[in-house]
Amino acid sequence: MTHTKNAAFEAVLNSYHRCETAGGLFDTFYDVFFAKSPEIPPKFVQTDMERQKQDVMASVLMALRLAGGDAVARKYVSELAESHSRGRHNIKPELYALWLDALCESIKQHDPQYTPELEQQWREAMRPAIELMMAAY
Ligand code: HEM
Repeated sequence: MTHTKNAAFEAVLNSYHRCETAGGLFDTFYDVFFAKSPEIPPKFVQTDMERQKQDVMASVLMALRLAGGDAVARKYVSELAESHSRGRHNIKPELYALWLDALCESIKQHDPQYTPELEQQWREAMRPAIELMMAAY
């Protein structure tokens, strides 16, 4: 990994931890995400959303670790990809762009040190996990 990549990875992890400390990131996230498409809210009618917010918070950290080359994270995200594929949660690939936009809009609201450059670093860092999940559809 290059120094530039490492610095970006650190910047995103620090942002994640600022959001975690601030709290409420995934309350905002699901409000924003649900408003992105009428296809989205019906998928969560039977979901315990408090539990879901905890799970997704943890899974975002795993997605970031995948970008850092962590093998345990790769296995975890592969299983997540399987659970989101057409035979299970049935999450169409085009919904991931909305998911990532919603995440970035939420980070903008919750990270006091948000910058557009940081948003680009977040998008880069989430890309390997999202690509893996879209490919598994
Ligand atoms: C990188 C992007 C995403 C991550 C990290 C992620 C993470 C997770 C996690 C950790 C779970 C709970 C464990 C599981 O069921 O496997 C979950 C469940 C779920 N996700 Fe995602 N997800 C992502 C994208 C999406 C998208 C784009 C949708 C589209 C609507 C979606 C819809 C769902 C649904 C419907 C469930 C099941 C909820 C339930 O159990 O009732 N996810 N997701």
